[in-house]
Amino acid sequence: MQEADLPDVLEIERQGHAFPWTETIFLDSFRGNYRLWTGWHGERLVGFAVVAYLFDEAHLLNLCVSPELHGQGIGRKLLRYLLGEAALDHIWRVILEVRVSNESAFHLYRSEGFRQIGTRPEYYPAADGREDARVMALELRD
Ligand SMILES: CC(C)(COP(=O)(O)OP(=O)(O)OC[C@H]1O[C@@H](n2cnc3c(N)ncnc32)[C@H](O)[C@@H]1OP(=O)(O)O)[C@@H](O)C(=O)NCCC(=O)NCCS
Repeated sequence: MQEADLPDVLEIERQGHAFPWTETIFLDSFRGNYRLWTGWHGERLVGFAVVAYLFDEAHLLNLCVSPELHGQGIGRKLLRYLLGEAALDHIWRVILEVRVSNESAFHLYRSEGFRQIGTRPEYYPAADGREDARVMALELRD
């Protein structure tokens, strides 16, 4: 991802999340220990992922695909790409949080080998208060 991609990224972010990240949060992610990936269909930016590295562990902070293109394999492709890059960067484990109501993301992560390792109560803001997160993890090497 380049800073010039941010208008498209923010548009997808606003469509994909009820409580979207602000531009400032994305700008704060352009740092050495972050990896920001974009997915493209021709000239069109169709999805992105944001990953933070802490020593040899990675935290997948955001994965989002244009809503009208859901279900076409773009999310899985982005996820596999970032996992491959993490492995090359000698990351041994990737963790993430996902809303308990987010069935499609949960199925995607589980089908790529992530397993639930816990929950974080009331982790996310929600329309009627707070929502729990599942914490999921994938070990990339033994
Ligand atoms: C989660 C998200 C990134 C998936 O992207 P996508 O491009 O639609 O996903 P894919 O087409 O690669 O599908 C991968 C898997 O997700 C699951 N999935 C996708 N859409 C689904 C749906 N509507 N219902 C249930 N499962 C679904 C399936 O397991 C699917 O695998 P399959 O096609 O082999 O059955 C996308 O839905 C999204 O951007 N959501 C909004 C943001 C978000 O919730 N991000 C994740 C939390 S940070």
